[in-house]
Amino acid sequence: MNDLDQMARQAQADFQAAPTPAELENAKARFLGKSGRVTELLKGLASLPAEQKKLRGADINQLKARIEAALQARREQLADAELQAQLRAEALDVTLPGRWRGMGGLHPVSRTIERIEAIFASMGFDVADGPEIETDWMNFTALNSPKNHPARSMQDTFYVDLQDSEGAWLNLRTHTSPMQVRYALAHAEKYKGVEPMPEIRVIAPGRTYRVDSDATHSPMFHQCEGLWIGTDVSFKDLKAVFADFVRRFFETDDFDVRFRPSFFPFTEPSAEIDIAFRSGPLAGRWLEVAGSGQVHPAVVRNFGLDPEVHIGFAFGMGPDRLTMLRYGIDDMRLLFEGDLRFLAQFR
Ligand code: PHE
Repeated sequence: MNDLDQMARQAQADFQAAPTPAELENAKARFLGKSGRVTELLKGLASLPAEQKKLRGADINQLKARIEAALQARREQLADAELQAQLRAEALDVTLPGRWRGMGGLHPVSRTIERIEAIFASMGFDVADGPEIETDWMNFTALNSPKNHPARSMQDTFYVDLQDSEGAWLNLRTHTSPMQVRYALAHAEKYKGVEPMPEIRVIAPGRTYRVDSDATHSPMFHQCEGLWIGTDVSFKDLKAVFADFVRRFFETDDFDVRFRPSFFPFTEPSAEIDIAFRSGPLAGRWLEVAGSGQVHPAVVRNFGLDPEVHIGFAFGMGPDRLTMLRYGIDDMRLLFEGDLRFLAQFR
């Protein structure tokens, strides 16, 4: 093996040993750089006689070509290795199961409220929405519960640290009944001078609050108010509307409805509405589902209407209770704990 072969092998070995492109370029410089070994050989040609110069020159050029080929081969090898490493690092395992975002769903009480709205809308009822922080007048006084009236203590009230212009504390509404007043006032205003005034037919679902907490009471709960005011709207209509609602809500005809005398300051007479299914797990048990009554003349007056002309009924039911009955839930707290194991069952 001559010295040129020796050098070619050396270059090849050095290139192979270079682990990175940068080190490969350093190795290249040792052979092909300005003062590299091949360059030095070429410089040495100058001192040779013409005949030898030609032969030796050809040999050195051949050596140079071999070294360049080896360099190029190693460059490609390193580039390829780098690409492979990158592909490995960015590899996607397409056989993994997809990541499931989890599908949300409506809360069971929201589903109940949507059902209530759809059923009453089909009976010509509007759906109204109002504030949860309420004035003393709306929540109590306008509903015939004057200050210091014992009826006020029927409902344990959360007060808000804010006073209205009369200095009365604001409250978290204890029922949706103030929506009767808000809606009727707006209705009376809207149809001022229109004879006859169109009937008021509205439901108002929403959150309500009382100082109360156990398996059947939550400090925050829902109510849905109903109000129908016309010129000859009676208890007969209330019973028909409510029975129709129950039939459609529970999707059964197999139940009885009863009106049990009761008291509310804002209705006279007043009744609790009870239902009893004739079959199923709750068969034969009377279940209280709403408070109701003929709207008290004093309240009709607070609506801005003449109680000699305008008459009707109101009711207030509990969507939480209806949800529990419909799905067979026995603890109201489950509805408001936000436990996904519970909620996911209603998706
Ligand atoms: N607001 C009453 C309650 O919370 C229910 C009710 C509404 C009663 C409308 C009569 C008429 O208990």
